[in-house]
Amino acid sequence: GKSGYDHYMRKEIAEQPRAIRDCLRGRVTELEGTVSLPELEGLETPSSVQFVACGTSYHAGLFGERLLRRRGIHAQTFVASEYDAAEVPIDDGTLVVGITQSGETADTMRALRGAGRAGATTLALTNVVASSAARECDRVLYIRAGPEISVAATKSFASQQVTLSLLANALADTTSRAHLRELRRLPEYVQSVLDDTGTREVAEALADADAYFFIGRGDNAPVALEGALKLKEISYEHAEGFPAGELKHGPLALVTPNTPVFAIVSGRSKTAETIGNVNEVRARGAPVVAVTDDPESVAPHTEYVLEIPETRPSVVPIVANVQLQLVAYWLANALDRPIDRPRNLAKSVTVL
Ligand code: M6R
Repeated sequence: GKSGYDHYMRKEIAEQPRAIRDCLRGRVTELEGTVSLPELEGLETPSSVQFVACGTSYHAGLFGERLLRRRGIHAQTFVASEYDAAEVPIDDGTLVVGITQSGETADTMRALRGAGRAGATTLALTNVVASSAARECDRVLYIRAGPEISVAATKSFASQQVTLSLLANALADTTSRAHLRELRRLPEYVQSVLDDTGTREVAEALADADAYFFIGRGDNAPVALEGALKLKEISYEHAEGFPAGELKHGPLALVTPNTPVFAIVSGRSKTAETIGNVNEVRARGAPVVAVTDDPESVAPHTEYVLEIPETRPSVVPIVANVQLQLVAYWLANALDRPIDRPRNLAKSVTVL
């Protein structure tokens, strides 16, 4: 059942601290700073990694790709339906990772099969034991999110991000002890966001807008895309996400006093630049909601602040996303949408 919540989505958002703990269990030795993923035993460090995925799982790929690149591993993410193994460089050092909660998404399966035929090693990063992806790939790494009923992917995204964080550390020559420490603290960070009830008020105050925009830089750019996807999926409102620097290259033309902008403002050097983008939209009258770990410096520039705890830049997107999940949820709730079963969508898309 829904454990007392009105919707599965709300319940699944609340389950994230537990899901993250389950994902980490037995896989991290913080003291030695090591990650152990027996599923990958014997796998050689790939010369390059290609992520193939759809929707929210695609956004997880964009997140994971950055972690790998930063560790010197070439990585690229593809929308699975656009992936053609004949058009990308593949050799026996290529690892193709299908990120798919359900393990049944037709587009992702086709991409994985094509990659396998072309000689890549394939890895399924999935939530569902014995799913098609788990059975057909050379390797499988479970994200351990537990069953997700709501069509909107929430806890599975957090679990994908955490699993990708582990994967990045496992594939790299050296693991980052500080990164692992922050991953261990992540359930607490997420819990503190869940305990803070400010998001509902913000969402309700903004429920009457023409459209919603989401911006973020660097590690937070994928979360901007994800925030917009979640909002459009369950609220039926127009929402778009961009890397913050792209605003001025077109989307700014759409910004009015009736298009709230959600800005993830975090990540040291990136903060000043994102504040610059915030000021650009405010000059057009748009109300800005900052999701930030630095409320003191950011609050003077924005109408609303949704605070997140301070952590490493690579962990921020996991926490910030929880605020955006809550924004989407409360906005859809204010509009009385059928949150768990949005029109026209299925939990698992098994057609090409
Ligand atoms: O099961 P998968 O992770 O392969 O599903 C991919 C997408 O269909 C899925 O993430 C979809 O975008 C969600 N409904 C978004 O909330």
